Amino acid sequence: MFEKVQETVEFINDRINYNPEYGIILGSGLGGFTNDINVEYILSYSEIPNFPVSTVQGHKGALVFGTIGDKRVVAMQGRFHFYEGYDMKQVTFPVRVMKYLGVSKLIVSNASGGVNQNYHVGSIVLIKDHINMMPEHPLRGHNDERFGPRFVNMSEPYSKSMINKAKEIANELDITVHDGIYLGLQGPTFETLAEYKMVKALGADCVGMSTVPEVIVARHMELETFGLSVITDMGNEDSIEAITHEEVLEAAKEAEPKVRTLIKELIKNY
Ligand code: HPA
Repeated sequence: MFEKVQETVEFINDRINYNPEYGIILGSGLGGFTNDINVEYILSYSEIPNFPVSTVQGHKGALVFGTIGDKRVVAMQGRFHFYEGYDMKQVTFPVRVMKYLGVSKLIVSNASGGVNQNYHVGSIVLIKDHINMMPEHPLRGHNDERFGPRFVNMSEPYSKSMINKAKEIANELDITVHDGIYLGLQGPTFETLAEYKMVKALGADCVGMSTVPEVIVARHMELETFGLSVITDMGNEDSIEAITHEEVLEAAKEAEPKVRTLIKELIKNY
């Protein structure tokens, strides 16, 4: 896989030679963030060798290169999910590529279901830790030491100093944020009421179908990682029947301006 990653990186560097510092993965309904980037180049996934192609509604498939303030970024507009049928190596392949394009910090966003009763639809959660309950591990199998060690330290999967900076910024801008634990399940079904209860009992604050594999692979390569989740539905008795993908996208859209501002200012000021 190391060679495949290098091949993809070489292809991209031949085209644009950009060297971004920040990698950004945009979750459901947050694709509008690319409007905050002074875009210099767009490469659609379909033209990048070895890249999977995104299939989910609400996700576009392109790498967007440009600046935010004086920082160079590459954003994934559209990510790959395990439930789409990709294996975890495919899901996380773009994170490997971003690393070798020069990225040292990864920002990941997603939509999730809230089980912490202090949250409501539209709450913004800074992910401080995760619980991996996905059925396949992205680091299973042969470990290539050129990427990172066999046994990865996960004592600080989400950068405390980035979280602190984001809290500072949120405070200054009067944006309410929570911090919480994200639990990753494979989907694509939303949780049953019993499963939401399980998520809560396990000590998580929200649940979703992404992020965990990308963060594991980012930490494997020692990228500094920041994760943010928008609560698009609450896993409680009253609202559980209502949730559809359209409602998830709609709720994420509503929180989008605040999320965009937060990420933009974090990148500029961190
Ligand atoms: N569960 C899992 N994934 C999700 C949810 C949810 O309730 N909402 C948005 N993504």
